Amino acid sequence: MGGLSAEREISFRSGNACLKALISKGYNAVAIDARRDLPFKLRDEGIEVAFIALHGRYGEDGTVQGLLEIMGVPYTGSGVLASAIAINKAVTKDVLISKGIRTPGFTTLNRVEDTKGLKIQFPVVVKPAKEGSTIGISIVRGEEELAPALSEAFRFDSIVIIEQFVKGREVTVSVLDGNPMTIVEVRPKSGFYDFHAKYTAGMTEYICPAEISSEINKVCKDMALSVYKAVGCSGAARVDMIIDEAGPQVIEINTIPGMTETSLLPKAADCEGMSFDDLVERILDGASLKG
Ligand SMILES: Nc1ncnc2c1ncn2[C@@H]1O[C@H](COP(=O)(O)OP(=O)(O)O)[C@@H](O)[C@H]1O
Ligand SMILES: [Mg+2]
Repeated sequence: MGGLSAEREISFRSGNACLKALISKGYNAVAIDARRDLPFKLRDEGIEVAFIALHGRYGEDGTVQGLLEIMGVPYTGSGVLASAIAINKAVTKDVLISKGIRTPGFTTLNRVEDTKGLKIQFPVVVKPAKEGSTIGISIVRGEEELAPALSEAFRFDSIVIIEQFVKGREVTVSVLDGNPMTIVEVRPKSGFYDFHAKYTAGMTEYICPAEISSEINKVCKDMALSVYKAVGCSGAARVDMIIDEAGPQVIEINTIPGMTETSLLPKAADCEGMSFDDLVERILDGASLKG
């Protein structure tokens, strides 16, 4: 838990909730703050299995997974390649498009490029290619808002995505060991599921199961599984989608979904009668070396 990314504080929330669950299930679990001395800590603590509760860079991106592969320590969740693909929203979208999976239209921009030649149809969403928890993301409704949104996003990554804004209902589909779970609908009071809406009690309404038709429900679940397979995930993952008139579009896949007691994957589990502690143990049971 913890680590080196901008999502460090959220990771502590996930990590401490999982630690508590593991201890109450009787495991000999210890917390490790995954900083630069991680390999030494893993060795000194004699870690046999790693339950990864890191979010963002140096945790959800394949680097820690690569270290654990080299050290021969089985770990939870996706392997090196799937993690590296999913952390980068632009690469993920390229993979989705190659598989014919609907995702909003987009362009990417690096620091030296400018937006002059681009035909941008507002509104758009500007976001860093990496990073999560809605860090550095803005909804841009007109030309005058574009430059500040880009400079905000460039604070977090050297590649930025300009993505078509999708107006519709936001849902998230957790996938556990290749099985799509009950769909959770997210209704932020402000209309934008930003950092504040995600982590402040009462700022977002969650509906589980989502109030969608059984047809759309099936389309979303099939789509989530296609994304999980296309990226090559293992263990738990969560696919964020927005449903417009033409059906769902995939926004992103998270390979280490939030695991605070109020996060979306635990909500889906709860909806299926699986307690938080049981969910954590189930994720632990899936730990492996992916090779
Ligand atoms: N193309 C889009 N259209 C409409 N809303 C979006 C779009 N992309 C992101 N959002 C909003 O921003 C939130 C965070 O975006 P997301 O790409 O999932 O990044 P993060 O990794 O921070 O969760 C989403 O949950 C959604 O509310
Ligand atoms: Mg998201």
